Amino acid sequence: MENLDEILKFGKALAEKAGEEIKAAFLQEKKIETKAGCADLVTETDKKVECMIIDEIKKTYPHHQFIGEESVAGGLKCNLTDAPTWIVDPVDGTTNFVHRYPYVAVCLGFCVNKIPVLGVVYNAISGEMFAAIKGKGAFCNERKIQVSKETDLKKSLIMAEFGSARDPERLDFVLNNLRSIISTPVHSIHCMGSAALNICAVASGQAEAYVEFGIHCWDYCAASVILEEAGGLALDTTCTPLDLMARRILAACNMDIAQGLSSRLTHIELPRD
Ligand code: IPD
Repeated sequence: MENLDEILKFGKALAEKAGEEIKAAFLQEKKIETKAGCADLVTETDKKVECMIIDEIKKTYPHHQFIGEESVAGGLKCNLTDAPTWIVDPVDGTTNFVHRYPYVAVCLGFCVNKIPVLGVVYNAISGEMFAAIKGKGAFCNERKIQVSKETDLKKSLIMAEFGSARDPERLDFVLNNLRSIISTPVHSIHCMGSAALNICAVASGQAEAYVEFGIHCWDYCAASVILEEAGGLALDTTCTPLDLMARRILAACNMDIAQGLSSRLTHIELPRD
């Protein structure tokens, strides 16, 4: 039996330590490489921070497993089992990090029996620490957070992203969905560059929903716990239960908003994580 209160304390301290590295490198020149495409970026800080996080987890919890964005990019299998498993994104919002745009987060999700039970999302630049344990509420810097009560999609602020794919077919798909959402009409669509912080914005009542196809489990695992604990819904884009490996999410403040948004989207299947 895992002691989730202890693990949360550990996770928050670890996120702060990772955040120090990110802050120290934030305004510096960065060594930038690309991964799956020209807009899928990685820096030496992403790699260094992930190594540090995984070393610390191994030292403190040798029986825990982990899935990390840069480890998977380096060839490790993305294998979620029933074992206690950390799902780590060292820098969510790498493009923001590269451009010194202060919307960058360390994400530490923790799953037991393949179910996300704890999440920490730390905006290293603003110092906002979002955290939740399943069944115990969601907090930002110890302040309880709650989703918006809006049920009218037309009065909603929607978060979305272009993602990192740049092939014409995929761009058509993304742009058609954005066009369909904005012409609802909604109040606006914001593309801020961090999936995890977008989900935390919905959890905090700052936006009504967020949708993206093509993200990865490390982008949404931690934040999905925070959203659900703030009273929101972390769903598949079709409004069915969230599939951590399906690479698509619809995060919403309630089912009216989720269904309204889902019905305006075209849905695609993606290669699984
Ligand atoms: C990315 C960000 C971005 C989203 C991409 C993600 P990364 O994560 O969350 O907002 O649109 O799909 O891959 O690469 O910065 O960790």
